[in-house]
Amino acid sequence: NKTNVTRDEKLKEICQLLSDSVPYYDWVGYYFANHETKTLHLGPYVGAETDHTVIPFGKGICGQVAMSNQNFVVPDVKAQDNYIACSFTVKSEIVVPLFVNGVNIGQIDIDSHVLDPFTEVDERFLEFVNQEVAKLF
Ligand code: SME
Repeated sequence: NKTNVTRDEKLKEICQLLSDSVPYYDWVGYYFANHETKTLHLGPYVGAETDHTVIPFGKGICGQVAMSNQNFVVPDVKAQDNYIACSFTVKSEIVVPLFVNGVNIGQIDIDSHVLDPFTEVDERFLEFVNQEVAKLF
């Protein structure tokens, strides 16, 4: 019975599908913005548990995307000074903002254990995924 599937359950299924389908998508999750407190809050995700459930705007890759409204591709996390490490196994990251009616309400964040795996194909694909996700809001 799919009629009672909530938005968070759908988002978790999307994260699971992405993580299962792309070998180098090792942690997949959504963060959502609180524009009053200027913080990001962890939503549905798949992968290792993270301590970073609340991230101030401006901090780390995620916090920077909350303010820039732009995709952020990090080929090598070691080369970033404003980066929040979740796990030593993470080598690279991509963050793509989620827009609903033109407002940046959050983002999809993907960590990879592979160095420099993300291309423009990932960016276009994740922009498309987020356009579909936006319809749930
Ligand atoms: N690495 C992120 C923090 C979130 S974890 O990857 C889940 C960052 O620098 O914003």
